[in-house]
Amino acid sequence: MVLALLFLFSLTACSQADSKAEPTTASSDQAAVNTASDQAFDAKEYYKTLQNCVSQIKAKTDFVPDIALVLGSGLGDYADNVKVVKEIPYSEIDGFPVSTVPGHDGTLIFCEIKGKKVVIMNGRVHYYEGYTMPQVVLPLRVLHLLGAKTVILTNAVGAINEDYEVGDFVTNVDHISSFVPSPLLGENIDELGERFTDMSRVYDEDMISIVESIAKKENITTHRGVMIQVTGPQYETPTEIKNFRNMGADTVGMSTVVEAIAAKHMGMRVCTVSCITNMAAGMQEKLSHDEVKKASDNSSANFTKLIDGLLTEMKAE
Ligand code: HPA
Repeated sequence: MVLALLFLFSLTACSQADSKAEPTTASSDQAAVNTASDQAFDAKEYYKTLQNCVSQIKAKTDFVPDIALVLGSGLGDYADNVKVVKEIPYSEIDGFPVSTVPGHDGTLIFCEIKGKKVVIMNGRVHYYEGYTMPQVVLPLRVLHLLGAKTVILTNAVGAINEDYEVGDFVTNVDHISSFVPSPLLGENIDELGERFTDMSRVYDEDMISIVESIAKKENITTHRGVMIQVTGPQYETPTEIKNFRNMGADTVGMSTVVEAIAAKHMGMRVCTVSCITNMAAGMQEKLSHDEVKKASDNSSANFTKLIDGLLTEMKAE
């Protein structure tokens, strides 16, 4: 029964990928990263695109980041107060997918924060925009090839766990990715990582502990949680949420888990900081993107404290 359900879900995911709108990359050779079907995925061309993105960035800056920080929906304000060394709009990097969602600016910001060399991805692309999963994780792969060995992934999520509240924060200790296509499908890119990657411990325990200790000091509520990623763009139904809760999920969102998978594949240290913007479907009246945006705006001061504290106390490598 469970297997049959999983099969049905994966069929739905595939047909959504096939009926894509027209996502845009800054590239003329979209085919290089187009993996609408596994057969169409050309690992060698994709790797060339990665390398080409790396060379274009290196031609614009010699900054070598240690840490990549991906800013999620409504959390982009964090970038307003950093000491910028170099900014590169995604649209200036041939091959980079360009975000179409309002609130996802689409700029790489090379900067120093709390003495750490950081590259901020201000804006990410999502599977629901019509991008393939390899396109979704392409920017993070490029940042790793530029030097980043650690990634901090941030996002807005709905709370499935009844003990959580809007405005709380969650650091993932595990995830469920079974309802979205893996970013690692298709021929493996051996230069990035191994074919069958262990996912027993994706999230870095030291970094989770640092987030918890900062939160305690600052009087911010955080939880250790399990996140489930869905494709979106529609929010879930109450029945889906009930099932996700039974599966062990505490939060739900439309990004982040696939990036964590791609990061783990490349051997990166991974930490997530999620802001709870709403209770999941069936736990509150109804859901809206405006509400999600408002709630993440309201959380921005606490979000800044957590990220600043984490960057201060974590090891660069
Ligand atoms: N579901 C999916 N994604 C989300 C939610 C949600 O309730 N809230 C913020 N992102």
